Amino acid sequence: MVDSLRKPEFEELRPGVKKPSEDTILTPRFYTTDFEEMAQMDLSVNEEELKALIAEFRVDYNRHHFVRNEQFQQSWDHIDGDTRRLFVEFLERSCTAEFSGFLLYKELSRKLKNRNPLLAEGFLLMSRDEARHAGFLNKSLSDFNLSLDLGFLTSSKKYTYFKPKFILYATYLSEKIGYWRYITIIDTSKRIPKKISIRFSTSLRTGAKTRTATVTSSMP
Ligand SMILES: [Fe+2]
Repeated sequence: MVDSLRKPEFEELRPGVKKPSEDTILTPRFYTTDFEEMAQMDLSVNEEELKALIAEFRVDYNRHHFVRNEQFQQSWDHIDGDTRRLFVEFLERSCTAEFSGFLLYKELSRKLKNRNPLLAEGFLLMSRDEARHAGFLNKSLSDFNLSLDLGFLTSSKKYTYFKPKFILYATYLSEKIGYWRYITIIDTSKRIPKKISIRFSTSLRTGAKTRTATVTSSMP
């Protein structure tokens, strides 16, 4: 009994694969949109800013981040009880949200490729980043002896429809919120290193910052 209190149990789809949390108003959603309307979007007002943004994405300043360096060569068994449960939930939500971004951006890039190539390339590069973030978080989850079946999530989760302009707002807001949330975790882990000593790469900061700063100025 003491052990089950120290190490919370999670429902599994199969051994080591966490059953996704039930959808609530707070759980990350998967999105779809009107691809035709997105394809016809007039980007001329912000074209130069978008080109500058995409040029930065192409350089991929974060490509050497998200490396599981020696900080990850350790056990997290000392994180137990409620802290462990909350941290696993945090990793699951974050991974799901990043993966949601990957799916949407990838689909947008595929559907816009021949219709709106500038936007298509931007979304393609963003999907690259989101896949990287989701993979990193899922690997972190495996440090807690769990993982998410992203293929299962893709086929089992409901998709919420948002009009294109709300997709753009939601993208901006979610990056901004993610940026501050990860920073709060880094700052907290520095202040209370014994409680949670995982350091997320600062690339999460720079990636989000670069993206949101530019999107702010390019979206009305
Ligand atoms: Fe991300």
